[in-house]
Amino acid sequence: MRKLTVAIDGPAGAGKSSVAKVLANRVHYLYIDTGAMYRAFTWAVLEKGIDLSDEKAVRDLVDTIDIRLEPQADLCRVYVGPTEVTEAIRTQRVSSHVSAVAALAVVREKLVKLQQAMAKEGGVILDGRDIGTVVLPQADLKIFLTASVDSRARRRYLEVQAKGGSETYEEIAASIAARDDMDSHRTVSPLKKADDAIVVDNSDLDLEQTADVILGLMKERG
Ligand code: C5P
Repeated sequence: MRKLTVAIDGPAGAGKSSVAKVLANRVHYLYIDTGAMYRAFTWAVLEKGIDLSDEKAVRDLVDTIDIRLEPQADLCRVYVGPTEVTEAIRTQRVSSHVSAVAALAVVREKLVKLQQAMAKEGGVILDGRDIGTVVLPQADLKIFLTASVDSRARRRYLEVQAKGGSETYEEIAASIAARDDMDSHRTVSPLKKADDAIVVDNSDLDLEQTADVILGLMKERG
């Protein structure tokens, strides 16, 4: 199979990163978690106490920040400068601020360029919100991965419980619905299915079944 560029977009909690990791492992592709990059930027904003309405401070951070992804077999390590933030970017605090940060054009411009540079050799799977529409409009395969709010919230609730977290199902469902709303209604690069993307609804599919469906589509394109 030739080395494809694969774009997986979709709403929060649809399992994009889990399925992208499974696929990348199966076909030995590089997995690029673009959400992790927006989260890393958000982590730095919070760490420095930057007010998002302070355009100069945001621009300075855009100009100086060094975000690196180190993809490994089943984990994508994330660094801001020398600091590893792989775990720190998954906190509720970062989750609740990331959509506002990701709505800033100046931030998107910088991260999109980085993502395009990382993807240019092919053999990559990128997941995010605007991969098929903005980052890689020429991607060989575009998937729009989605599932009902209820099934996305149920899955995340089970994950949270397994880790001993205390968030309720209702809180998780409300947070997913709020992020969907912000991500789809922002002015810059809203979450939107590319015209040529294939919709995969995995409300009733598990991870391996979802990966099988996408792998089948990759084989057709390869
Ligand atoms: O994928 P994940 O849920 O970790 O992404 C976190 C947030 O980053 C999303 O809710 C969205 O606001 C933003 N994002 C984005 N564009 C991308 C990837 C993520 O705006 N390509």
